[in-house]
Amino acid sequence: MTQDELKEAVARAALDYVVEGRIVGVGTGSTARKFIESLAGIKDRIAGAVASSEDTRQRLEGHGIRVFDLNEVSDIPVYIDGADEITPHMHMIKGGGGALTREKIVAAVAQSFVCIADASKFVDVLGAFPLPVEVIPMAAAHVSRELVKLGGTPVQRPNFVTDNGNLILDVKGLRITDPEDLETRINQIAGVVTNGLFALRPANVCLLGTPNGVRTVKAS
Ligand code: A5P
Repeated sequence: MTQDELKEAVARAALDYVVEGRIVGVGTGSTARKFIESLAGIKDRIAGAVASSEDTRQRLEGHGIRVFDLNEVSDIPVYIDGADEITPHMHMIKGGGGALTREKIVAAVAQSFVCIADASKFVDVLGAFPLPVEVIPMAAAHVSRELVKLGGTPVQRPNFVTDNGNLILDVKGLRITDPEDLETRINQIAGVVTNGLFALRPANVCLLGTPNGVRTVKAS
């Protein structure tokens, strides 16, 4: 199976977690795009969706799925999104697509987070994938210096502005053995909007695409 086919398989499997008649939170990225295509097939059975990015909003609306503003919604049973890396503890690095802040906000409202990923994303220790950090533009140099103190090598993502009008620093060289602690520390740096560690709010379940089929993994 190609990586694309693995993504399609987990996207289809995620439909089992969508609650009929309710609003579903929808992530961003190539795996989430596959999920949007699958969701379009059952759009008459959901109330609508909340989008984690402008790209996702446009795709959902393009399929005729009603998109709610998060401020209109108090209860989202499930949020479905990909990850750049995920551990057996369901801690993740996200933000390769730059939508980490809105993803974290929608995930915070959702009762359950279903991560959909191909098996290449499953790792024992986070950090081989550079950690995205969304930064207020005037703070970029300050935040970079602070990230160096934490052992990382930040590089500003070229020609990229987030949906919120901010910059992304991609931090290489981190071997993240305590993701909850690092998530907290980075978020305390003045000028950081949020970082791509999803450890304080991990996934509840991961649907992992493997050559032998979709494996359901829960925190160990
Ligand atoms: C988007 O900002 C990210 O958090 C994505 O969820 C993550 O990068 C996974 O993307 P792919 O599904 O494209 O690998």
